[in-house]
Amino acid sequence: MVAYMGEHTNLRKVAFVTGATSGLGLAIARSLAEAGYLVYGGGRRPAPSDLPANFTYVQTDVTSDESVRKSMDYVLSMAGRVDLLVCAAGFGISGAIEDIPMEEAASQFDVNFFGVVRVVQALLPTMRRQKGGRIIIIGSIAGKTGMPFQAYYSASKFALEGFVESLRYEVSAFNIEACIVEPGDFRTGFTGSRKKIVPDGSAYRDKYKKVIAVQEHDETHGMDPLVAGRRIVRLASARRLPVRITVGPLFERFAVWVRRILPDGWFEAFYRIYYKL
Ligand SMILES: NC(=O)c1ccc[n+]([C@@H]2O[C@H](COP(=O)([O-])OP(=O)(O)OC[C@H]3O[C@@H](n4cnc5c(N)ncnc54)[C@H](OP(=O)(O)O)[C@@H]3O)[C@@H](O)[C@H]2O)c1
Repeated sequence: MVAYMGEHTNLRKVAFVTGATSGLGLAIARSLAEAGYLVYGGGRRPAPSDLPANFTYVQTDVTSDESVRKSMDYVLSMAGRVDLLVCAAGFGISGAIEDIPMEEAASQFDVNFFGVVRVVQALLPTMRRQKGGRIIIIGSIAGKTGMPFQAYYSASKFALEGFVESLRYEVSAFNIEACIVEPGDFRTGFTGSRKKIVPDGSAYRDKYKKVIAVQEHDETHGMDPLVAGRRIVRLASARRLPVRITVGPLFERFAVWVRRILPDGWFEAFYRIYYKL
């Protein structure tokens, strides 16, 4: 069932934002609306309260081809075009690689990776026809360096890094640009929605507990998602979209930079100390 509310006009730039019921996606959608975009977007939950008039809620499940198609059809019937796509829908699974059943691992990819693929595939014909568009994918710094006990989450975000790099080569001839945004820690619903899989008798339980405590502490002390929202607005109107940008606390952005120049073994040693492994 697709639920819709809000206003529409063809006079302004049109944005579609996935994962716009909470956290980063909601902050991005609000910031775009504040900046004058005509914003459409949503998630599976009902519309958040107090949406600005130029933010139309479109219920969308990125794991469903039909839901994504219906949402796109609706947006195009109302706005006629989409100038900016922001893919923010996502969630995290944590636990040891050995302990997480295959279907859970697959569900992580179905939302975080194939959820992006579904929406991008659904929108590219429109962007090609309108001879332009911008695609911003929300990755993670966990897509730059494997996080302990978040292997499937990290892998889904690593996959997006390659996806965006390949996409850029294919679509530039149609005046379509793409960028991956790698957030560090932001205070969102992400920590509360994380699926934790630690079976009774797991050989990894003690280490997992130590690591997840550090990770959740960092997340709950992370930045205000509105900072990312405003950064995405500036990015969306940049002269050209870069391949990637990192947003978030300075220390985490520094860690991503250090990861690039430090030998693998040194960086791994640093993470082992940081996560008490
Ligand atoms: N918070 C951080 O520190 C952080 C850091 C790096 C990267 N990220 C990434 O930022 C993105 C947003 O996460 P967040 O931190 O804002 O977490 P959040 O507050 O939990 O928001 C997640 C959003 O994703 C949506 N979503 C989840 N499954 C979906 C599905 N099947 N179909 C459609 N929408 C779905 C949720 O909507 P419904 O529940 O309504 O479906 C919600 O709007 C994610 O991709 C996450 O990996 C977050």
